[in-house]
Parts: sequence; structure tokens; C-alpha cells
Amino acid sequence: MTAPTPLIAGNWKMNGLAAALGEARAVAAGLGQVPGRVALCPPATLVDRMRQALAGTAVALGGQDCRAEDNGAFTGDVSAAMLADAGASLVILGHSERRAGYGETDALVAAKVVAALSAGLEPIVCVGETLEQRKAGEALAVVTGQVRGSLPAALAGKAFAVAYEPVWAIGTGLTPTTPEIEEVHKAIRATLVEQFGAEGAKVPILYGGSVKPSNAAEILHAAEVGGALVGGASLKAADFLGIIGAL
Ligand code: PGA
Repeated sequence: MTAPTPLIAGNWKMNGLAAALGEARAVAAGLGQVPGRVALCPPATLVDRMRQALAGTAVALGGQDCRAEDNGAFTGDVSAAMLADAGASLVILGHSERRAGYGETDALVAAKVVAALSAGLEPIVCVGETLEQRKAGEALAVVTGQVRGSLPAALAGKAFAVAYEPVWAIGTGLTPTTPEIEEVHKAIRATLVEQFGAEGAKVPILYGGSVKPSNAAEILHAAEVGGALVGGASLKAADFLGIIGAL
């Protein structure tokens, strides 16, 4: 069975003004031969300008969220079609900062996935347990439950990725041990195969949460890890390139 093509995606979160486009250009300029795909997910305000800055390079662009509806009276929100129109080909959905901060449920994330697919975007669907859930021995049940609930049947035959991001590892400098990562990724793989059959074996399962150049090689080479979703360390080209170089 061929391994999924790895994907390293940078999630800039609510960081980045026009001056930060230089970092994106530096990422593109510093990419050598990468055995996988590289994407940057800037704030929505920068997607179009980053598209222009990265035209002709191998770096793909993604949004960080989208509304489930196509358009309408939803002040402040962005639709999947708007992201695609601005130049995105991917979109992060169900990030724990949205699940926790905006009450996003698995059902809402699944509806956003459907919207993303109809706009031609490749969803990166995030799942992950809190520290309390891990301590209670619930990590696998929580994560596989989120996978089942957040990935609609409409994904069959479509390109998408799942990102395992333990909430307690995001922005904290803490990371799970390699066996802990592998245990969860294997459980996600089994759930994907249960849901999507043989196609489920080809979906990249990214790890996210305090990935940095110094831990990237170990994480990226762990069993069933098909790339990384990188927050803080994607803001500086040198750090992001260091992670990509560990692929
Ligand atoms: P971090 O964030 O790399 O800053 O921990 C990861 C994420 O939230 O995607």
C-alpha cells in the first residue's frame, strides 16, 4: 500500500500583516526538493496577497475556517467559495480554538467540510483531546468520536487530511511521546478505514501541537504520521523550513 503523500501546513492563526508576506516568500525560496506538499494558512485578509506573493511556487494556500453556508447575512464570516476565490486550495476546519472558543460541534464541522468540498477546497479536519480527557483515559475515545462525527460521507473519493492536535500540546511547548502519538494516529487510521474503506488508508494524518525544528524529525517519522500542522513555528520561515527539512 502506498503511504499517503505527506503535508506540512502552517497555521498562522490571527497573526500576520502585509509585512509578514516576506516570511512566506522566504519559505517558497528556501524549499528544496520536498518529499511532500507544503501549505501556508494565513489569516483570510492575507490569502489573496499571499497568492500573489507565492504565484508560481510550490507552496499551497489555505484558510483557517469557513462558514457552512455559501453566503448570506453572517457578519464577519467567510465562506468556502470566498477562500477559494482568494486563492486557497485548502481549509483548516474544526481547530480546537474554534471548537472551544466558538462552541463548534462535530456536526457543525461536518457541515463546514461539505461546504469546503463544494467550493473545491481540501479540508484539514482537526481533532484532539484535552488534558483532562487524556488523564481520564479518554483520549482515544474522544479523538475517534470526533473523527466519526466531523467527517461526513461526502468526503468519499475526495482529497482531505486529518490533523491530530492534542489541545494540551498546542502553543504550550509540550508534546506527547512518540508512542502516544502513534497510538492515537493508529486509532485514527483504523477509524478512517472503517469509514472510507481502502481510501481511508491514503488520507494523511498530520500531527499538530508544538512542532518545531528540534522535534520535527522524530514526530514526522513516527508510524502513521503523514505530516504536521504547525502553528507558532510556521510564522518564521527559518523555523518552518527546518520542520519541512525534517520530512
Ligand atoms: P502550535 O499550534 O504549533 O503553535 O502548538 C498548532 C496548531 O494549533 O495548529
